[in-house]
Amino acid sequence: MNKDKISIVILAAGKGSRMKSPKAKVLHSICGKPMLYHIIKASLEISDDITVVVAHQKDAVMELMSSFFDNLHFVVQDADNFPGTGGAMMGVKPKNEKVLVLNGDMPLITSYALQGFINTNSDIIMSIFDLENPDGYGRVIIDAGQVKRIVEQKDASAYELKVTTVNAGIYAFSKGVLEKYIPLLSNNNAQEEYYLTDIISMARADGLIISPLLVDEEKFKGVNSKKDLSDAEVIMQNKIKIHWMNAGVIMQLPSTIYIEEGVTFEGECIVENGCRLTGNTLIANSHIKAGSVVEDSIVKNSDVGPLAHLRPASYLEETHVGNFVEVKKSSLKGVKAGHLSYIGDAQIDEGTNIGAGVITCNYDGIKKYQTIIGKNVFVGSDSQLIAPVQIEDDVMIAAGTTLTSGKVEKGSLAIGRTKLRTIKDFYYKFFKK
Ligand code: UD1
Ligand code: MG
Repeated sequence: MNKDKISIVILAAGKGSRMKSPKAKVLHSICGKPMLYHIIKASLEISDDITVVVAHQKDAVMELMSSFFDNLHFVVQDADNFPGTGGAMMGVKPKNEKVLVLNGDMPLITSYALQGFINTNSDIIMSIFDLENPDGYGRVIIDAGQVKRIVEQKDASAYELKVTTVNAGIYAFSKGVLEKYIPLLSNNNAQEEYYLTDIISMARADGLIISPLLVDEEKFKGVNSKKDLSDAEVIMQNKIKIHWMNAGVIMQLPSTIYIEEGVTFEGECIVENGCRLTGNTLIANSHIKAGSVVEDSIVKNSDVGPLAHLRPASYLEETHVGNFVEVKKSSLKGVKAGHLSYIGDAQIDEGTNIGAGVITCNYDGIKKYQTIIGKNVFVGSDSQLIAPVQIEDDVMIAAGTTLTSGKVEKGSLAIGRTKLRTIKDFYYKFFKK
């Protein structure tokens, strides 16, 4: 695809008051990434001239997007004096003749869907869809098969409100059309904003050809509220899960599984119901059992859960992690940790068994310390390993041991329990039976 044919402008300067949030709307997350990230990612697949218009929380928006992508152009809107989507276009200087303008609150858009706007010769192409409930969208007034104008909901008459054809929020303009009409916009409307959508009626009056492009809500949905946010997330979740099932992943009750966009699978994997997989997690040839959470971790040839929690930077290979086990920033290779453990800041080697209730005490209230465990170690149940600690190969830690800092040498037994006493008939004396 020839990426220097088209410029893309993404409008991301608005407050998003309907989100009722201190956070700028475009930074709200869908499937683990800000909405704006998804739109920029799709845009970069078809254009190398991307302008993002910012104003509200502009530093946060620019910083975060620059951490994901190089070569974005940012334009700061004078939103105090020129609010609205038309105001947002005022300082924009696209490089190419054809300019695609996208609202920044359409996280479901794909590069394939955007291509529909490129190869036509109309002066303006605008996206429309029909909705049973058009609430919140600008209504598209079509007359004799031609788009006549767009009426924003707050300016619409009772009759216009009943129109179910709406403006989806993506437009292709020629650069000349933008240069001519943006300076002519006014804020003479219910919201006292400069509406980009007013270009349509002005251009139409001048006899320009405006082609409506019928699109589907699955890809063009605008997110204005937290309800919209969750609806859009469900749509994207389905897409992600279908993609991975087609790639060979088995999912049980997929509607109960949450998988972020950075997660990848290799080989044959099973994900049971109620699992949550986030960040840049990689699961290869593994079985993630019901109710487990895996965050930013790598799991290879292993089984995890049910109800296990792998926190960021965990690495599991040929390992069994069972129920109620929490692992954080640790590497486990060829390990069995079947029940009720906390394993943090640890490296554990092949053939080692971690008994039920074992805890790495990695934190002294100020700093975190490492636990290094060698091969074929048997850590008995309910032991506490007070880090920093190193256990060499072939060691046995007796159940109930509190292992204080230091090293346990190869082949040893470490046992740290008080001697058991039994006092005959104590029970009967105590309860005077
Ligand atoms: C807009 C359209 C509406 C359409 C709908 C589709 C206008 C006037 N209305 O309405 O016809 O049906 O999208 O989703 O365009 N923005 C700025 N600067 C601003 C205001 C907004 O950059 O001053 C950005 C926002 O960050 C957002 C986008 O423009 O990403 C759209 O703004 P929003 O307030 O969501 O417009 P809608 O009311 O949804
Ligand atoms: Mg919107």
